[in-house]
Amino acid sequence: MGENEVIYDWLQMAIVGGIICLFGMGNANAQTLTRQQIIDMNTRPAAEVNVAGESMRGVVVSAAMTPAQRYDASCAFCHDTGTAGSPKIGVKAAWQPRLAKGGIEALIHNAIVGIGTMPPKGMCPSCTDEEIAAAVQYMVDKSS
Ligand code: HEC
Repeated sequence: MGENEVIYDWLQMAIVGGIICLFGMGNANAQTLTRQQIIDMNTRPAAEVNVAGESMRGVVVSAAMTPAQRYDASCAFCHDTGTAGSPKIGVKAAWQPRLAKGGIEALIHNAIVGIGTMPPKGMCPSCTDEEIAAAVQYMVDKSS
């Protein structure tokens, strides 16, 4: 009897483990596919960790990300560090000359269409223009 229980436990663990693996693999594949065209850069691991976090949060809050959450999920891995010459968040001197050119409207426009080595929408094709605008506003507020 005890032995049967042990075997049953093993089976159950194997099945549950298998399901978790399938889910995990499905997710990883979907991410690789959707991101295939958009990134090939050394920040890739950080990006994917972010994306995983984003999709897990997405289940709960879906479209209702705050600007700060959007920034963390989609912009931070470049703008936290100033990767590739991006204006670093919190550094007023990095933002001032850009703001001086055409105000926040121009910054939002450039963030949406892409600028220099920054791809359109900072590699977040599913972000709405409003989300991008809110993220830019957040970055500017933190940098003034
Ligand atoms: C892959 C790295 C990367 C990601 C991700 C990224 N950016 Fe950028 N961003 C840059 C770089 C590089 C520049 C500077 C481009 C230049 O001036 O040539 C830049 C510039 C900007 C600017 C200044 C535009 C201007 O007119 O001077 C804004 C605003 C901006 N990013 C917003 C965002 C927002 C919002 C996100 C997230 C949705 C984001 N970025 C994600 C790399 C990135």
